[in-house]
Amino acid sequence: MQLCAEMIASDSTLANSDACVAEAGVWRGYFSSLINAAFKDRTIHLFDTFEGFNKEQVNHDFDKGLIDNFFKDQQDFNSTSIDLVKNNLPFKDKACFHKGLFEDTCQEVKDLKFVFTSLDMDLKQPMAAALEFFYERTLPGDFIFMHDHNHSMIRGIKEVVAEYRQKHGRLAKLPIADEGSSIIIVKS
Ligand SMILES: C[S@@+](CC[C@H](N)C(=O)[O-])C[C@H]1O[C@@H](n2cnc3c(N)ncnc32)[C@H](O)[C@@H]1O
Repeated sequence: MQLCAEMIASDSTLANSDACVAEAGVWRGYFSSLINAAFKDRTIHLFDTFEGFNKEQVNHDFDKGLIDNFFKDQQDFNSTSIDLVKNNLPFKDKACFHKGLFEDTCQEVKDLKFVFTSLDMDLKQPMAAALEFFYERTLPGDFIFMHDHNHSMIRGIKEVVAEYRQKHGRLAKLPIADEGSSIIIVKS
């Protein structure tokens, strides 16, 4: 993720663009801080409930067999806050926080364009909403980093990508050999 962010950030063709960067699924801000460091001159939009998973969305994925008990009962990511994330960012003056369900808060940036986005919300419904939202607003040739595409415990993300393909056609994407089996989607 860091290398991808740094490569796009150094692309000279973007020098005059005022497009933003974003992360949907911030938790305590580890990836967000890497993106913020790589794109120090760009506004970074950060989306999270900052209170952990929405229970209905967890139950949806559990009922469909997309996550196991561990995610349902033990992993809810509520140990965070906007202040905590802000403290972890190297260029905090560039950060805009959007607290709440992504499906609602994304409307706050509906008129913006993005050069780089990291999607890391684990659950199928918000990840599907985020792919729809950001692909449309990503500049051609730029990137969406999608976590957990081939994750053995988070099985909804592959479905999100397959369903997007059925609806909109082929997505240009590359697998990454990282812990979460992420993919990089290139906007055509
Ligand atoms: C795996 S964590 C993100 C990890 C983070 N990228 C990092 O670098 O540590 C998943 C995050 O997605 C958030 N999330 C899940 N569903 C969401 C939704 N519908 N709207 C907003 N945030 C959501 C959770 O609150 C949680 O903080």
